Amino acid sequence: MQQPPLRVLGIAGSLRTGSWNRKLLEAARRLAPADLSIEPVDLGEIPLYNADLDTPERRASSVEGLKESIRNADALLIATPEYNYGVPGVLKNAIDWASRPAGESPLAGKPVGIMGASPGALGAVRAQEHLKLVLLGTLAQVFPHPGVVVGNVRAKFDASGELVDEATRRFIAAYLVDFAAWVRRVGPPR
Ligand code: FNR
Repeated sequence: MQQPPLRVLGIAGSLRTGSWNRKLLEAARRLAPADLSIEPVDLGEIPLYNADLDTPERRASSVEGLKESIRNADALLIATPEYNYGVPGVLKNAIDWASRPAGESPLAGKPVGIMGASPGALGAVRAQEHLKLVLLGTLAQVFPHPGVVVGNVRAKFDASGELVDEATRRFIAAYLVDFAAWVRRVGPPR
């Protein structure tokens, strides 16, 4: 029997218009197998975390929307830049909001895949390791995989923002097939 497609929330840890990590997420969206759809979410309206504002009365609608999107997704796919060897504040801040209040976090148990791109050689690999640690703190489940590490990213996309490096395209397509199979194994029954 054919199963319904997995709904994956795509999160790019960068707000800038020309973000390589947003392009990487978009490439993943296009390369995804038929049984997995990736819907990107925008972190631009998420305020800085302040516990005083983390109440049902005061919580920003953008935060409520993010949490609802995470709750409704079968899994997350995060493309993180590397800022000073770690996860950018924008992404960490969004994860912090989603993770509270303790005991009500939509991140707990959520399957998460990680990717990263950088103009340098290392493809945000240190930020990806940092992100694994952060996600561990949220009780999310991280896809056990060496990861999608896209270094020298400028050479891998064309001027229109299309991922044109064949090896990277094949790697991401295979990654998403494995990710979908894993999410179906570890996610809640659908
Ligand atoms: C960077 N960059 C960077 N790159 C890297 O490989 N290791 C690093 O530690 C850092 N540190 C860093 C700090 C800050 C504050 C900035 C703004 C940038 C470069 C970074 O990889 C590059 O700007 C990427 O293009 C950012 O990702 P997006 O926005 O293109 O997705």
